[in-house]
Amino acid sequence: KIMRKIAMDLSIEKIINQKLCDTFTKLGLDTAYAAVKVSDRPDLSDFQCNGALALAKQEKKNPREIAARIAGELEKDVDFAKISIDGPGFINLTLKDEAIAAVLDQIAGDGRFGIAKVETPKKVVMDFGGPNVAKAMHVGHLRAAVIGESIQRIERFLGNEVISDVHLGDWGTPMGMIIAEIIKQDGSLDKALNYNIDEITEFYKAANLRCKEDEKAKEDARQITAALQDGNPEYRRVWQHLREASVSAIKKNYDDLDINFDLWLGESDAHAASAEVVKLAEAKGLSELDEGAHILRLEESNKPKPPVILIKSDGAYGYQITDIATIKDRVEKLKAEEIIYVVDKRQSLHFEQVFEAVDKLGIAPNVKMVHIGFGTVNGSDGKPFKTRDGGVMTLENLIAMSKDKVGESMPSPADAPGYDQAYIDNLTAQIAVGAIKFADQADPNAVKTEILPVAPYQYMASLQMLDASTPLLELQVFAGSRAEAEKAAKALKK
Ligand code: ARG
Repeated sequence: KIMRKIAMDLSIEKIINQKLCDTFTKLGLDTAYAAVKVSDRPDLSDFQCNGALALAKQEKKNPREIAARIAGELEKDVDFAKISIDGPGFINLTLKDEAIAAVLDQIAGDGRFGIAKVETPKKVVMDFGGPNVAKAMHVGHLRAAVIGESIQRIERFLGNEVISDVHLGDWGTPMGMIIAEIIKQDGSLDKALNYNIDEITEFYKAANLRCKEDEKAKEDARQITAALQDGNPEYRRVWQHLREASVSAIKKNYDDLDINFDLWLGESDAHAASAEVVKLAEAKGLSELDEGAHILRLEESNKPKPPVILIKSDGAYGYQITDIATIKDRVEKLKAEEIIYVVDKRQSLHFEQVFEAVDKLGIAPNVKMVHIGFGTVNGSDGKPFKTRDGGVMTLENLIAMSKDKVGESMPSPADAPGYDQAYIDNLTAQIAVGAIKFADQADPNAVKTEILPVAPYQYMASLQMLDASTPLLELQVFAGSRAEAEKAAKALKK
């Protein structure tokens, strides 16, 4: 959906399309069929035109004959290295290297790489990252960040106004679980404000274990969450502290990866709007009571669609209403015209439900809402990485490992005259982070819409890549200027 918006002013495909169009006009053929596409048979050609088949059907003629007429005309064009008619009448086209090089030169020489800005810029709110507070960020958080940041940069390059929001998970039951756990272990919350992020994470781990076995502990956590949301001042103070401690750790990770957010809002920021959503649903007769919970039913077409929970039976707001309320805020306060979510595929149904509820409630008329899903980063058990099952590689560790590995092949200032340690360290960090990002996107799972298992040594492979040509490519990408890259590459080769 995003790709379609990229209007290429300059592209090889466009140029060939023009050639086909001219040829069809010359031969008196309907130019509606003059389009080419990237070849289905890269072993045979660069592009193919299937127009002769459709034309033949329309004019009740032999498709190979029509194809031959078109090919005969195209033969006169010096840009083609090979033209062949294959199968029932496909025209396969291969360009001369010089012709491709000429277009690439033109694109490279264009300040915008041949990509036009959108005609009517939009205000796009981007929601990606979405880490939960009180948990260390791990490799599983990498992908949303990398894809989200890329789309953010593309959207800006296209001329859209982007506001990105990290949308922290800071309002759910885990908050109550941590507070309950501190009370259980300490007898009170007196020391709570002194705990640092590592200690808080330990409490969260312990709470998770406890709630798995103990129904009563789970219930306590739920009640504390509801009270926290309801404004209990002591819980709020502790929560504020947990949130701040987590945010500084999260920010450091994103900074290291050069992932940038305009807003550091969270689920908690949608609290007031959640109450408004409930009122709206009631006013529209869309809210129903169901076993103590307030729910909003959705239309079921060909598959069952569970209702959206507006208020849980314990009185707290959950994940769904929080997203609905956040949309309300983004439309009203940020004036969003489009909202893009970059969140893994497991949440597809959640976003379908949320978007449908938003439609029913009339909260975001004319606002485009898109969920861009992707496959998760899985452990060797085939399940997505999680912090709570222990032993998972944190992002911080991954970045550190990558830096160490890159550092091994970096020269010292003594070996690279003209470069000081700070320059080399900076370059090391850039290459290390680049390798992680490239490797993540090289994982076929990253672009798949299904969730497939990926071996955890994926990231080790990323580090191995550093022994091949990748860093040199990255050097060029990151060093800024070609001269600088060449200088650095020379130093590296020593
Ligand atoms: N915090 C959520 C999670 O860990 C992801 C948030 C995605 N964004 C959203 N608006 N729901 O699953």
